[in-house]
Amino acid sequence: MPNQDVRIAPAEGKLGVLIPGMGAVTTTFIAGLEAIKRGLGKPIGSLTQLGTVRLGKRTEGRSPAIRDFVPLANVEDLEIATWDIFEDNAYEAAVKAGVLEMPLLQSLKEPLEAIEPMQAVFDQKFVKRLNGPNVKAGGSKMDYAEGVMEDIRQFQKRTKVSRTTMIWCGSTEVYHEAAEVHSSLERFERGLRENDPEISPSQIYAYAALKSGVPYANGAPHMTTDMPALLELARDRSLPLAGKDYKSGQTFMKTLIAPGLKSRLLGVNGWFSTNILGNRDGEVLDDPGSFRSKEVSKSSALEYILQKQLYPDLYGNVYHKVRIEYYPPRGDAKEGWDNIDIFGWLGYPMQIKVNFLCRDSILAAPLVLDIVLFMDLAQRAGMRGIQEWLSFYFKAPMHAPEVYPEHDVFIQLMKLKNTLRWMRGEDLITHLGLEYYD
Ligand SMILES: NC(=O)c1ccc[n+]([C@@H]2O[C@H](COP(=O)([O-])OP(=O)(O)OC[C@H]3O[C@@H](n4cnc5c(N)ncnc54)[C@H](O)[C@@H]3O)[C@@H](O)[C@H]2O)c1
Repeated sequence: MPNQDVRIAPAEGKLGVLIPGMGAVTTTFIAGLEAIKRGLGKPIGSLTQLGTVRLGKRTEGRSPAIRDFVPLANVEDLEIATWDIFEDNAYEAAVKAGVLEMPLLQSLKEPLEAIEPMQAVFDQKFVKRLNGPNVKAGGSKMDYAEGVMEDIRQFQKRTKVSRTTMIWCGSTEVYHEAAEVHSSLERFERGLRENDPEISPSQIYAYAALKSGVPYANGAPHMTTDMPALLELARDRSLPLAGKDYKSGQTFMKTLIAPGLKSRLLGVNGWFSTNILGNRDGEVLDDPGSFRSKEVSKSSALEYILQKQLYPDLYGNVYHKVRIEYYPPRGDAKEGWDNIDIFGWLGYPMQIKVNFLCRDSILAAPLVLDIVLFMDLAQRAGMRGIQEWLSFYFKAPMHAPEVYPEHDVFIQLMKLKNTLRWMRGEDLITHLGLEYYD
C-alpha cells in the first residue's frame, strides 16, 4: 500500500537535464547514456539502474529493483543540454577529456555532436585557471540570470520535456563563505542587480534554475545553495536541493574505512591522503582558491565519522591532511594514496596503506545519473529544500543547521533506502530482527 501522505506524480514524458559545465564528468555521463541505450555498455555503479531494495522481513524474499519500486524516469527519456565556456560539442569535449576510448566515442559521434554547449555565465575571479570564448555578453548579474532563464525556456520549448532538473558539473569555484548578500532572498536579488562581487556564477545558475521551477544539485565542492537566500527560494517554490561534491574516489574509500575502524574501536593517529591527477579539474584545483573549496569538503568527512567528542582516547588527536597534485601525464586516471596510522589494544601502532588507481569520471558518471533521477523523483513526491537522503552521493552533504551531516556511507545508504520505503508506504527496516528467534 503506497504511503497515504506521499503522493508521487508519475514519471510521464521526458525529463530535461541541464548541466553547467561540459568537461570530463559530463561527457562521460552523456556518452555513457548513449552507449547504454545502444547496448554498448552497462550502467555499472548506478543504484537507480542496478540496485535493489529489500522490503519486509528477510523471510518474505521481496527485493524489487529500485527502478521498479519507485517511479523513475527512464534513461531513454532524458534530454540533455549543457553550458560551457568552450565551444566544443560533446564529441569534441569527450575526445579532449580522454576518459573514454576512441572506438566507443566514434560509434556515438552523431548523438554527441548534436549537443553543443549554450553560452556560459563565467567570471574568472571564481575559476582562475580557465578562460574561454563561449560566454554570455556583459550586463548585470541579474541580466545573466535572466539569460539562463531564457535558455531554460528555449530548451523546454524545443524538447517538449515535461520536467527539468539541473546539476552542476562545472569547474570548482574559489572558496567563498556566505556573505551579507546571501543572507536573504531580497538581499541576494538586490546583489544580482548591483553586481555584488560575492555572487558566483554557480549561484546565478542556481537562482535561474529555482526561479524557473527547476531543482538544483551541486556536484562540486564550492558553496552554491548552502546559504539562506537560495534555501529560501527553494522552499518558497517547493523545489529540492542537493549537494555538494560527488563522493566518488578517495573520500568514498575514506567513508568506507573510517566507519569500520570506529566500529571496532580502533584508534587513529593520522590520515594522510594525497592524489595525482592530470585532467582539467586537476588544473583548476592547482589554484589555491579552488583547492581550498576541495580541501574543506574533503576534510570534514573524517571529523564527523570519528566523533572525537565521544571517543577522545581514540580520535581526540587525529592529524588529517589532504593533498591534490596536478600531474598532467595521468589525465583522468587519478591515483590516490592514503596512509592511515592506527592503534589497537594497549595502544600498539599499525598502518594501513590504500593505493586507489581510479578513473574519476567513470566513478562520477553513475552518481550524476542517480542524482538526476532521484531529484526528479523528489520533486514529483513534493519534497522540498535539502534532500538529506541523497547524502550518499556527496562528500560534503547539505544538512539542516541543527544536525551534523551524516558521512558514514552505510548509514547514508540505509537512509536513502528507508526514504524510498517511506515514499511507498513500506515498513522501514531497523535490522532488529528479534522476531526470527521467538
Ligand atoms: N570524480 C570526479 O570526477 C569528481 C568528484 C567530485 C567532484 N567533481 C567535480 O565535478 C566538476 C566537474 O569535474 P570534471 O572532471 O568534469 O572537470 P572538467 O574540468 O573536465 O569540466 C568542467 C567544465 O566546466 C566548465 N566551466 C567552468 N566554469 C563554468 C561556468 N561558469 N559555466 C559553464 N561551464 C563552466 C569548464 O570549461 C570545463 O569544461 C568539478 O568541479 C569537480 O571538482 C568531480
